[in-house]
Amino acid sequence: MADSTVALRVKRICFEAERINSYELVSLTGGDLAPFTAGGHVDLHLPNGTIRCYSLVNDQRERHRYVIAVNKDPAGRGGSSFVHDNLKAGDIVTVSLPRNNFALCEEAGHSVLIAGGIGITPLLSMIRRLQALGRPAELFYAARTRPAAAFLDELDALRSNGGLTVHLDFDDERSGRLCDLPAIVGRAPAQAHLYCCGPVPMLQAFEAATADRPADHVHVEYFQAAEAPATDGGFEVRLARSNRTIAVAPGKTILDALLDAGIAANYACTEGVCGTCETRVIEGTPDHRDQFLSREEQSANKSIMICCSGSKSRTLVLDI
Ligand code: FES
Repeated sequence: MADSTVALRVKRICFEAERINSYELVSLTGGDLAPFTAGGHVDLHLPNGTIRCYSLVNDQRERHRYVIAVNKDPAGRGGSSFVHDNLKAGDIVTVSLPRNNFALCEEAGHSVLIAGGIGITPLLSMIRRLQALGRPAELFYAARTRPAAAFLDELDALRSNGGLTVHLDFDDERSGRLCDLPAIVGRAPAQAHLYCCGPVPMLQAFEAATADRPADHVHVEYFQAAEAPATDGGFEVRLARSNRTIAVAPGKTILDALLDAGIAANYACTEGVCGTCETRVIEGTPDHRDQFLSREEQSANKSIMICCSGSKSRTLVLDI
């Protein structure tokens, strides 16, 4: 699990949309929390042993609370259902310090934000930040239905502050236009920064639509795996620092094999999206399956997400 955690109290739980609740987390003693930046997230360490990453939706200037939103996904791995079914106001939960893999470019002259479903969460804190900076932004927000779309009232209030344009798109109201990502990207000014968070097909379509844009102007955040983890096994991992060699058997990820061997390893999402388990590769060729590293970083083979990636070489030497 991740290194630094803090115990926080669930102060308030709010219904935000069908299957989506927000959770306000505060210090046990009423003090300030560690700062965060727009687009950042925390990991929730649940009493059932799972760890899940959730974006922070509130204003980064707020130091007294973290607010996350959780979409209850019946087809998920159980984390969101556990949160919805078990977490109550007053409970104490273990939370990681905030991290940010989806940072906002605060200097952008124009920002285009594209959200699908619960993918609105990191973009909401970005919108608040852009407004605080007086920067214009355009939001495209797609959801199954209007009742399933979270934070519509807040978006209305933010829009009324000026500087924000909001385009809503609901599957059941669709007139055939929406979420035409090539058109949205094509209309964006050449120097715009473009952000997308949503389901895997939307992110893949966004990446295709932005392929010609400067890479440092295109920002994506996956919150679920786009590829199956590498579990073919049949290779060994040599741990350079501890001078141990661990066999990775079929059916196991590298992380599974390390944990089975009693080796402490950092991890959170276990899906290749959060970056917590990133490990330096000293020798060998990883079989990358994550959505965290860029294509260039994957090709360089200097690091690996051990929760989901495997090895193309017989031996992988890792900086552990
Ligand atoms: S634990 Fe999140 S990327 Fe590996």
